[in-house]
Amino acid sequence: MANLVVIGAQWGDEGKGKIIDILTKDADYVVRYQGGNNAGHTVVVGDEEIILHLIPSGVLHKNKICVIGNGVVIDPEALLQEISYLKTKRINVDGNLRISDSAHVIFPYHKVLDKLREEKFSKTKIGTTGRGIGPCYTDKYSRAGIRIADLLNPRVLEEKLRCNLKEKNAVLSTVYKHPTFSFDKIFRQYCAYADIIRPYVCNCSLLLNDAIKKKKNILFEGAQGTLLDVDYGTYPFVTSSNSTAGGACAGSGVGPTKIDKVIGIVKAYTTRVGEGPFPTEFSAQLMKKIRSRGKEFGATTGRPRRCGWFDAVIVKHAVAVNGLDAIVVTKLDVLDMMPKLKICVGYAYKGKMFSDFPADIEVLWQARPVYEECPGWMQDTTGVKKFSQLPPNARNYLSRLTKLLGTRIEMVSIGSDRNQTLFV
Ligand code: GDP
Ligand code: IMO
Ligand code: MG
Repeated sequence: MANLVVIGAQWGDEGKGKIIDILTKDADYVVRYQGGNNAGHTVVVGDEEIILHLIPSGVLHKNKICVIGNGVVIDPEALLQEISYLKTKRINVDGNLRISDSAHVIFPYHKVLDKLREEKFSKTKIGTTGRGIGPCYTDKYSRAGIRIADLLNPRVLEEKLRCNLKEKNAVLSTVYKHPTFSFDKIFRQYCAYADIIRPYVCNCSLLLNDAIKKKKNILFEGAQGTLLDVDYGTYPFVTSSNSTAGGACAGSGVGPTKIDKVIGIVKAYTTRVGEGPFPTEFSAQLMKKIRSRGKEFGATTGRPRRCGWFDAVIVKHAVAVNGLDAIVVTKLDVLDMMPKLKICVGYAYKGKMFSDFPADIEVLWQARPVYEECPGWMQDTTGVKKFSQLPPNARNYLSRLTKLLGTRIEMVSIGSDRNQTLFV
């Protein structure tokens, strides 16, 4: 397997959790490298559904080292909740979990500012998960952030927290007319978190480079999706990190020469949660049907996901910006009872045809999708055991996708269970 990066090639929730869980079998290390507990990765094991937010999905396998890299933003409260949640599922992370000393820490004011910004400046409402992700990354890039290493050193924590609170409290009271935060309470609480987290903390770049020297296999688990990437997505309706494959290097301390392969996870149709342009979004009736068949409700916030036809324009963009070697198509079964399917092959806007992803948000908002139609297969695929046993029209649909995207399909998923997976 060597060193493999797995990313979402649409707007997130492509089924990364399920596929990472399957690929973990051949991995020694599983690494999250960006995002935070805005992610929700679902893994179904038998009758049990496990949703992971911060801890890599590889944790469900024994003896795999799970790493939270420096590019991740960590809410200690959410992390400890997730560790407890996993304990209720009989999964113990002690001994397997490693946390980068350089990852940034989410504080209560980040979460409050995230929500206030959304409420008060509704014109640019992003529909965030409200987990404080944007404000925490903002502090990181403005060089005011507090890292795990700072959290572990009470003197540094005190100095940085005092300084940050001065600024945050001024903004909260004057701009938002919101109550301010007390230093003592946060300091005490975060010192307590530090004591619990300390045993997991290490220099993850050293750890991973050492593993590479020992020829261990590393699986990099992307969160969110390419169209939510801060550089390559539908900006400003994006998350605040690089969810594309390049983020794996910056967010883990492993150099690009050590990455062997990049795989993109693609849903057989499209979904997105939150605000922002979505050219192939369904009308109300189809939306209801696919949302209910695909159980399209957010794994983190429970919000209904917006659903639409497969958009080859955005996935072609994902193939390019991630350098995808192959894709995995998930949730093909959700389309089983559709008599006709559409694939968007371009956007028409003011007499012009765009077959490549446009950066202009106005084009994305107003473009009319140009579709190709394919016949459906009107057959249940959830019990299919081999790729060659898929109905001919399902194989034709997949084959059309590979032609449009210029990449090959490595796996097809036809249900949330581990064994509902076809290897191509
Ligand atoms: P992630 O964020 O990319 O890991 O995806 P989520 O876990 O947020 O959402 C994917 C949902 O689809 C989860 O509930 C999975 O259990 C489910 N799922 C994954 N693959 C398939 C599939 O092939 N068919 C169906 N019907 N459900 C799937
Ligand atoms: P996984 O890893 C789907 C979306 C939010 C919002 C935007 C910004 O499960 O695929 P943020 O809280 O990150 O500042 O919100 O990004 N978003 C996701 N959508 N799946 C995710 O993660 C997401 N993480 C963030 O809905 O539109
Ligand atoms: Mg998800």
